[in-house]
Amino acid sequence: MPKWLNDAVFYEIYPQSFYDSNGDGIGDINGIIQKLDYVKGLGCNAIWLNPVYDSPFMDAGYDVRDYYKVAPRYGTNEDLVRLFEAAHRKGMKILLDLVPGHTSDTHPWFQIAKRARETDLSNRYIFTKSVWDAPPEYRLMCGICERNGNYLVNYFSSQPALNYGFYEITHPEWQLPPDHPDCLRTAEAIRAVMRFWLDKGADGFRVDMADSLVKNDDEKIATARIWRSVREMLDRDYPDAVMISEWSNPQRSIVNAGFHADFYLDHQGNGYNSLFRKKIGDDNQSFFADSSHGDIEEFLADYFLGYNCSKDKGYICFITNNHDMPRATFYMTDWMIKLTHAFMMTMPGVPFIYYGDEIGMRYRTDLISKEGGFSRTGSRTPMQWSYEKNAGFSDCDEDMLYLPIDKSEGAPNVESQQNDPGSIYANLKALLALRKANPSLRNDSDLEVVYAKSHGFPFVYRRGEFTVFVNPSDNDEQVDYDMNGAEVVYVLGGYENHGSSVRICSRSFLLIKQ
Ligand code: NOJ
Repeated sequence: MPKWLNDAVFYEIYPQSFYDSNGDGIGDINGIIQKLDYVKGLGCNAIWLNPVYDSPFMDAGYDVRDYYKVAPRYGTNEDLVRLFEAAHRKGMKILLDLVPGHTSDTHPWFQIAKRARETDLSNRYIFTKSVWDAPPEYRLMCGICERNGNYLVNYFSSQPALNYGFYEITHPEWQLPPDHPDCLRTAEAIRAVMRFWLDKGADGFRVDMADSLVKNDDEKIATARIWRSVREMLDRDYPDAVMISEWSNPQRSIVNAGFHADFYLDHQGNGYNSLFRKKIGDDNQSFFADSSHGDIEEFLADYFLGYNCSKDKGYICFITNNHDMPRATFYMTDWMIKLTHAFMMTMPGVPFIYYGDEIGMRYRTDLISKEGGFSRTGSRTPMQWSYEKNAGFSDCDEDMLYLPIDKSEGAPNVESQQNDPGSIYANLKALLALRKANPSLRNDSDLEVVYAKSHGFPFVYRRGEFTVFVNPSDNDEQVDYDMNGAEVVYVLGGYENHGSSVRICSRSFLLIKQ
């Protein structure tokens, strides 16, 4: 396990929208280099970059046309290497996004594979034997190739699935086993991509749809086997590199597949959802909600299942948000967002902050889909840096902007929030400083629940010498706890010490050291 991951706090950068250094209306790698001090100043020491590879951008770059080339709109391979070097000089790490499950249908592999003539790439993707063979249980593109067969897609129609084989073979005429030499070659091709960028200075990868490799693999047994072999390669040849999965299943991703860390994603019914995003119709039933009436036990039951089995092997990553979901401002007030940040930054695991969440950027519901964003487009708008032209994101004419700037009244920006001690930015920065200064609050330190009651408040937990009380509800809540001799380290809202009990005011957070 690379040691640096234990202190890592990540900042996710959607490169299109972060900072445009050359005035063409779209963010670029040089822009990211110019803003490294900003990211570091917030308290993050690592960055996850969404895909920067050459692509037709039917899915914002998750449709890779060339894994070995930076998309010209972001710069060059040399620029990316300069980013690695500049980050390393500042003690920061850069993770690229690895998209192993599919490519763009414009990728040269696919261009060759879809032809009638048989080549050594004919099995790089998954084709049925003939166009008349289209079993409805598979998502197939039918009748559009010279080749006599239909092909499987992994996500959008423009993203054909790479062929890692089938764990359970139901159609032997076209499904290969995972240990077929051609399937092994697919995995080898992806390992080669990893080596290429690791050799150039990347510190690892966030892995897109990491569970999607082998098909008909319900328990993900053969998929895990592939990742184990990747982990062995890293341990042997790149011991400081990390792989972090988009999976949201620590048992399978960390324990079985060998990922160093796994994202805790917003999946319906899971703990993340019940904490922050559980909306039934108009009723927000999340634990962190204005007028909270959520149930902390729902979160704990799910979280501890993953935490207990994986905590000695890897990290669960709390995310403030990401490029796939509505921003937190869509669900809660700025104050509630501050409480969620206080909670996330005092939990174990590797935290990830989505660009703009540190200033409470808003989720736009009025935008036309951009590059396959659809409902996600509203979370991908340009970073708001200042009161200047285009919010300081770009010098271009307004109509050239990748996506429009949020001009709604009171739209936040970095400049205003950095000067406001009560801002979301100031709160998050203070929390990250606290986390950094105290080993007990770091990524691998233990977590213990002190008080949690179904549909009750507050929730109280311990991290080493620290105890955290959080009460997002509308009411003040009392809990038996003797805090005599305790040092109050951090408070949002209010509390009262009643000797043998503590009263946590409505919508408050308290961190003490004892
Ligand atoms: C997950 C990524 O986060 C998302 O943005 C993308 O569209 C899909 N995977 C497909 O690659």
